[in-house]
Amino acid sequence: MATLQKQAKHEKIVRYYEEAGMDYKVWSPAFNMHFGYYKWGMNPFKLEPLLDQMNEETYRRLGIGKTRLPMLLDAGCGLATTSRYMARRRPDAFFYGVTITPWQVNFAERLNKEAGLDEQINLLKADYQSLPVAGESFDAAFAIESACYADGADKMELLKEMSRVLRPGGRFVLADGFRKNSKPLPKLLKYIYQKNMDSWALKELADINLFIEAMKAAGFVNIKVEDAAWKVAPSFLHIPFTFLKFYWNRFTGKDKSPMNQQRRNNANAPLWGMLMGLAKPYFTYCIISGEKG
Ligand SMILES: C[S@@+](CC[C@H](N)C(=O)[O-])C[C@H]1O[C@@H](n2cnc3c(N)ncnc32)[C@H](O)[C@@H]1O
Repeated sequence: MATLQKQAKHEKIVRYYEEAGMDYKVWSPAFNMHFGYYKWGMNPFKLEPLLDQMNEETYRRLGIGKTRLPMLLDAGCGLATTSRYMARRRPDAFFYGVTITPWQVNFAERLNKEAGLDEQINLLKADYQSLPVAGESFDAAFAIESACYADGADKMELLKEMSRVLRPGGRFVLADGFRKNSKPLPKLLKYIYQKNMDSWALKELADINLFIEAMKAAGFVNIKVEDAAWKVAPSFLHIPFTFLKFYWNRFTGKDKSPMNQQRRNNANAPLWGMLMGLAKPYFTYCIISGEKG
């Protein structure tokens, strides 16, 4: 991707997260910036445990059970809530969280310190498609709802970089929304998709088939694709309530921060996403993992 184009894209993402970042608290007081994973027996009305379950499902797929002092990469870490979850789960692991949003680095560093986890989690402002680290630095890597920001419908640049920084046998696990194919979308759905992309400062979701081919080309083997659309569906049901809560907080004066387009986008984007979730032939949500060969 041409450098200037890439820079403009990154500026848009950074602006969105800097201006709307605190609003994620309405969705998750712990700042889990992703959808939840429902497991049989859980209470679907309680959102935070579903969000944490997504962290748990990701952790379990990293395959680091017997690794001593594992080094883990949180690619597109947001406010590093997944790293904090895993750091508590695995006190001997070290985390390296990467985001292109400087505000997130500063605020997440505070959250890590408050949680007493700042020695276990390091944060860095960098592009996960060109990391300033040596090859084979990590035992495993994960990207929860951040790979969607990588370039192209195959996300090749990101996958190549994940393959470079992983040690042989290291696993890359990601959870994200995908297009099921590259066929043109019907007019209304195209409108909804575009609204969702613009609101979340996204360019395009990955095409699942292109993505899997790119994973293989980047050197990943034992690739496992799990369609988790029904697993995330209960957390989608929380979207309208989060939307109403956001505007209620404004109406009652609890939220006094100045309103702007990014904040409006952040409130609306999940509603567009919910509509996309209903278009089953076109979109899905997957957890994908692969091992560096
Ligand atoms: C929806 S948030 C997900 C955050 C986190 N993974 C979670 O689940 O809570 C997407 C994150 O990807 C980051 N991001 C987007 N493009 C990136 C890039 N090129 N390099 C690194 N991080 C990026 C954003 O700054 C943001 O932190």
